[in-house]
Amino acid sequence: MSTDTVIHHSETDPGAGVNTRKVFIKTYGCQMNVYDSLRMGDALASEGYVQTEQMEDADLILLNTCHIREKAAEKVYSALGRLREMKKAREAGGQELMVGVTGCVAQAEGEEILRRAPAVDVVIGPQTYHRLPEALRRARQGNRVVDTEYAVEDKFEHLPTAEKARIRSRGVTSFLTVQEGCDKFCTFCVVPYTRGAEVSRPLPQILDEAQRLAEAGVREVTLLGQNVNAWRGEGPDGREWGLGDLLYRLAEVAGLARLRYTTSHPRDMDDRLIEAHRDLRSLMPYLHLPVQSGSDRILKAMNRRHTAQEYLRLVERIRRARPDIAMSGDFIVGFPGESDEDFQDTLRIVETVGYAQAFSFKYSIRPGTPGAELADQVPEDVKAERLERLQALLLKQQADFAKSCVGKVIDLLLEKPGRNEGQVIGRSPWLQSVNVDAKTSQIGDIIPVRIIGTGPNSLFAEPARDVVGT
Ligand code: SAH
Ligand code: SF4
Ligand code: F3S
Repeated sequence: MSTDTVIHHSETDPGAGVNTRKVFIKTYGCQMNVYDSLRMGDALASEGYVQTEQMEDADLILLNTCHIREKAAEKVYSALGRLREMKKAREAGGQELMVGVTGCVAQAEGEEILRRAPAVDVVIGPQTYHRLPEALRRARQGNRVVDTEYAVEDKFEHLPTAEKARIRSRGVTSFLTVQEGCDKFCTFCVVPYTRGAEVSRPLPQILDEAQRLAEAGVREVTLLGQNVNAWRGEGPDGREWGLGDLLYRLAEVAGLARLRYTTSHPRDMDDRLIEAHRDLRSLMPYLHLPVQSGSDRILKAMNRRHTAQEYLRLVERIRRARPDIAMSGDFIVGFPGESDEDFQDTLRIVETVGYAQAFSFKYSIRPGTPGAELADQVPEDVKAERLERLQALLLKQQADFAKSCVGKVIDLLLEKPGRNEGQVIGRSPWLQSVNVDAKTSQIGDIIPVRIIGTGPNSLFAEPARDVVGT
C-alpha cells in the first residue's frame, strides 16, 4: 500500500496538519464520565481529531455532563450560554465551531437542550457515544442531532481501542468500565434514568482491555460501574462469575500491580468479593461503600433496602477479612422527612464506622424521581447546618486517619511529577496523595516509603529502605 495516500492523525502524530480538527472535552460528574470522555476522544482520534486543552483552539467542544444534583445540571446551561457567544464570534469570522452535549444531562433532557441552548449541534446520551462521529457528520450538513436511545448494539464493540502510545500518555493508572446502569432506584437518584438498567461488559472484553492497559505500562486499574459489584459474567468454566471472581482473574494479569473498584452497593457485597479482599494483595485495602444515612426510617424512604445494622455488620465482616481496609462513603443530608433524630443517627453511624474519606451532599430535588414528590422537604438552612456538622466530623476522621499513617512504611505507586524538581506524587494503598523525593524516571515503580508528615490534602514521605509491610 502506498503510504502517501494515507492521512493518519493521532495525538502522537507529528504530521498532523493545519487542517486537523481539534476537540476540547470538558468532563463533569463521576469517574465513569472521565472514562467515557477518554473513549470519545479515542473515537474522534480515529476520525482525525486531535485533543486540545485550550477551549479557544477547538473546532469542536464537547460537554460531558452530570445530572446528579441540580447544581451539576445548571452548570451545563451556563457553560452553553458562554459558548453561544463564542460560536457567534467564530461564525462572524467565517469559522466553524461545533458544540456537543454528551453524558447524563443529554440523556435526561434530550431535545430540551436544543430548545434552551441554540449553540448546541449534537446531543448524545451515554449509551450511544460510539455514534458521535456519525452525528457530527450529520450536524455538519446542517441537521441538529439528538441521539439518546438505549442502543441495542454494544457501544464498546463499536468503539476503537486506543493505541499503546495514547494509553501510555495518560499515565500509570487507568479506569476500566465493567458495568453500567442501575436497577436499584434509590428514591433520590437520577442514575437509573440517565444510565439505564444494569448491564455488564462480557469477561473477554474486560480481560482484553486490562491486558492492553498492562502492556502499555498501566500499573493500577480501577474497575468502574454505577453498581460495580453487581457485575455478572460468564466465566471460562461456564459458571456465572461475580466481581470477586473477576478480581481473582485480573490479579493474574502480568504488570497490573494494583486493583480497585468503585462504586459498590452494600446489597451486592457477596462472600466471594469479601474473600477477594482477604486473599488478593493487589486488591487495594480501600472500599467506597456508600450508606447515605444512618437512620433506618430514612434508609427505607430512600429505598436503600438495607438497615444501618446490616451495613455495620457488613463493614465488620469486610474488616475481619482485611483488617487494614480504609472505608469511604457517600452521605445525603436533608432527605425529605429527615428529623434531627434521623440526622443524629447518621452522625452515629459515621462515628461507629470511622471513614478515611467521604463525600457528603445536601439532598437535591431531582424532577422525575420519587423523592421529588415527597412532602416534608427539609428547609435549605437546616440542610446547610446539618451538612456543616457532618462534614466537620468527616474531615476530622480523614485528618485522624492521615495522622495515623505517620511513621508507617508503605508501598507507594509513583504516578506523576511533583510541584518541585526532584519530587514525585504517588498514591498510598488507601488512595491518599503522597509527595516524596524521587526521580521522574521512577514513575510507574512501587517503592517503600516512610510517611513523615501530613498536609491539607496529601501526605509527605521519604524513601524507606526497610522491608515493606509495617
Ligand atoms: N451508585 C452509587 C452512587 C451514585 S451517585 C451508589 O449506589 O451509592 C453518587 C452520590 O451522589 C450518591 O452516593 C449520593 O450520595 C449522591 N446523590 C445522588 N443523588 C443525589 C441527590 N438527589 N441529592 C444529593 N445527593 C445525591
Ligand atoms: Fe443511584 Fe442508588 Fe443506583 Fe447508586 S444504587 S446509582 S444511589 S439509584
Ligand atoms: Fe453524574 Fe451521570 Fe455520573 S449523573 S454522577 S455523570 S452517572
